[in-house]
Amino acid sequence: MNFNFSEEQIMIQQAARDYAQRELIKDVLERDATSTFPAQHVKALSELGLMGMMVSPDYDGGGMDTVSYVLAMEELSKIDAGTSVIVSVNNSLVCFGLEKYGSEKQKEKYLKPLARGQKIGAFLLSEPEAGSDATSQRTTAEDKGDYYLVNGTKNWITNANSASTYILIAQTHPEKKHKGINVLIVDKDSPGISLGPHEDKMGMRSSDTHSVMFTDVKVPKENRIREDGFGFTFAMKVLEAGRIGIAAQALGIASGAFERATSYAKERKTFGTTIGNHQAIAFKLADMAVKIENARNLCLKAAWLKDQNQPFGVASAMAKQYAADIAMEVTTEAVQIHGGYGYVKEYHVERLMREAKLTQIYEGTSEIQKIIISRKLLK
Ligand code: CAA
Repeated sequence: MNFNFSEEQIMIQQAARDYAQRELIKDVLERDATSTFPAQHVKALSELGLMGMMVSPDYDGGGMDTVSYVLAMEELSKIDAGTSVIVSVNNSLVCFGLEKYGSEKQKEKYLKPLARGQKIGAFLLSEPEAGSDATSQRTTAEDKGDYYLVNGTKNWITNANSASTYILIAQTHPEKKHKGINVLIVDKDSPGISLGPHEDKMGMRSSDTHSVMFTDVKVPKENRIREDGFGFTFAMKVLEAGRIGIAAQALGIASGAFERATSYAKERKTFGTTIGNHQAIAFKLADMAVKIENARNLCLKAAWLKDQNQPFGVASAMAKQYAADIAMEVTTEAVQIHGGYGYVKEYHVERLMREAKLTQIYEGTSEIQKIIISRKLLK
């Protein structure tokens, strides 16, 4: 087994780290307080090639591997997961699915601007009554000959407002259940699309999250990805990839909190010595470090499998479940180590703790990951 990164992978990690620690950090507290979309950072991250980093250069992407993606996601998320989720959704839920399953015409028209970061994409699967239970899609895409007529509501959509391109999952043949679901590329400015209010979230507050309502929206047939009824398989496949990004995000949140807690433990004094010299704190840091190392290994293993074109769905579920759960544990301990200072915004760890919580919920809750893992074990 080779644990060394290539020169290119280290360069990408360094570029993401430099940007996060030099630029993202500056206004992260303000963005969190005001729920402001980080438009200037998304533009800069596009210029760094991170918005479509795994897309082939043939479609204007960065041509990087998934291991590099994990390294970049960790670095960005150490500082600002509200921004890194925009990078993750665009890369894995939108660009990955379009590149793997889209037609040449669709890639030319939709993938290229997304891979360049000139446009942003969103993935519309969740509904008010279909979150974990993703087969219960109620949004309909009625077949009208040369177009689909879409009606329904999607919920919790990351990038709903900032995106130009929607990847929409909708039901065409309810009698066929999940086999009747389609996946359509929808232009956000199509007549009949409206947004609910910006969700006032606990964490990841700078990413824009809304519900999206479709009322008699016409979508050309040529915007359907693959054959009739492919939508549910598409959703499952892109989520397998998406979960690597969110696992790496959770890893980054945990390692960001860990770095802050370690620095604090070396500076803060109680009872005549730095708190890191008290075993109660030192052992907490040791436990946190082991969990982070395990999470990093799971993320990299899932990424490596994907890069080798091997099945990676269970590995990405393991990485996502473990990294999200330890992110919650590690950030909670980081707040504890900071004591009262951890409970105020200036020290960042309370924000990281709020951000960690979402990683246990979106792109499949920790419980959904356990369903995926255990079904494979018991098959
Ligand atoms: N790849 C390919 N096909 C798959 C698959 C996979 N990984 N997983 C399931 N399928 C297929 C099954 O083989 C089955 O097909 P057949 O009937 O032809 O055999 C079909 O899909 C249905 O599968 P199940 O019977 O296993 O379905 P289920 O109802 O028991 O649920 C589930 C499966 C894994 C729990 C799924 O519903 C799921 O992943 N739920 C979570 C959804 C989710 O992650 N939502 C996140 C929203 S996106 C988001 O958060 C984005 C954001 O903005 C950040």
